Amino acid sequence: MSKKYEAFPGMEDLLPGQIETWHYVEDMAQVFFESRGFKEIRTPVVEPTELFVRSIGESSDIVHKEMYTFQDRGGRSLTMRPEMTASVGRSVIEHGLLKTTKSLRLYYLAPMFRAERPQAGRKRQFHQIGVEMVNETGEQADIEILTTLYYYLRAVGVTAFELRLNDLGNSSDRAQLIQTLTDYFRSHLSELCDDCKRRYEQNVLRVLDCKIQSCQPVINKIPWEALSPLSQEFKNVTAKLDHLAIPYKINRRLVRGLDYYNGLVFEVGSGLLGAQDALAGGGRYDGLYEQLGGQPTPCTGFSIGVERLLGVLEKEQNPLSVRVKCKRLYAALLDDNEQVKKSFFELTFAIREKCIHVELLPGEMSLSKHLKRANQMGIRFLIMLGAQELQSGKVILKDLNEKTQREIPMEECPDYVERMLKG
Ligand code: HAM
Repeated sequence: MSKKYEAFPGMEDLLPGQIETWHYVEDMAQVFFESRGFKEIRTPVVEPTELFVRSIGESSDIVHKEMYTFQDRGGRSLTMRPEMTASVGRSVIEHGLLKTTKSLRLYYLAPMFRAERPQAGRKRQFHQIGVEMVNETGEQADIEILTTLYYYLRAVGVTAFELRLNDLGNSSDRAQLIQTLTDYFRSHLSELCDDCKRRYEQNVLRVLDCKIQSCQPVINKIPWEALSPLSQEFKNVTAKLDHLAIPYKINRRLVRGLDYYNGLVFEVGSGLLGAQDALAGGGRYDGLYEQLGGQPTPCTGFSIGVERLLGVLEKEQNPLSVRVKCKRLYAALLDDNEQVKKSFFELTFAIREKCIHVELLPGEMSLSKHLKRANQMGIRFLIMLGAQELQSGKVILKDLNEKTQREIPMEECPDYVERMLKG
């Protein structure tokens, strides 16, 4: 018997029937980010290993134990990207993109690879939708990045989420913070778990991520205001968020798992996700481009985990499947007459030219079978055309959710449907 092959654990196929929800969040990202001046960038899946070691940091979990790294036939060490920020930086520097413009706004939709132990919400191949604002500094840029994330999540339909913020200070503040925490934990080492003792040696900031109960009293007693007060710039950003009525929580333990951050860092968590509750994360990274051999370039950005986003949207009150249903159209041909068929195909092609997804089943003439099929496919709107409709010059549009229908003049139908589905 021949061997049956299966996808590698933690790497999943996306099948017809599942992909529609992906198109929904990706299409929304494209429209939403482009309307805010972001342009798409695509970079290779594989990069020189050194790029990630230098940027994400040797002691980070990602570099330490999660990278898919291999040698190619020429003996070069290559890594399948675990994230995009470093790749985008490499690309901007390599192509001198900042020579012709002062700043850049970039976005991406791409697969990432991390060799983690697969579990709910934690994959080895996962996808991110992300944006990077390159060479933009100050509170205005921080607000822009936070509002882009917040309003995108709202636009796709996430209502239940928490925006968490922290201030890591500038790069010398960060070095100072590491020193101060090292001093603080040194006097409490005996109260920490073995993992934390290791983290203390390798990267003291990681102690703040510890979930072990016995470590919490020490971590919770860190005198933050004395050790690392919030900057005025950070307070100005939170004041602006208050003004915009965007809710947030300050979490002084939020240090993020990648070493390139400074200043404002943030994460979005959702109670609908379970243990892996981070839906998105990001922050400012002003030193990365210099580290990669470029000029000093202040940047900020974020990435959203698409699998987690879809997980949240399915659990929302108005689940994603309901919203996706509204994006497609089913067209039912009701007569085998040549004249009706000609008009039917002219009409459906005119609608498809508007980039609307039209499902049809040309050989079937029975309305009840068309309705059944549209329902099975999860499509909400159906147009139908038979000899009677052709004679009156009006197409019937049915809303299968609301169980209503209306007549639309045939020549107005493509524009009408476009306004209805895209509006
Ligand atoms: P990150 O926090 O490592 O940040 O990842 C961002 C998001 O990717 C997470 O919040 C999560 O939703 C998703 N994610 C991460 N690992 C997995 C996994 N194993 N399985 C499923 N989803 C996962 C970054 O990657 C930074 N590059 C973000 C950034 C952009 N900072 C500045 N610009």
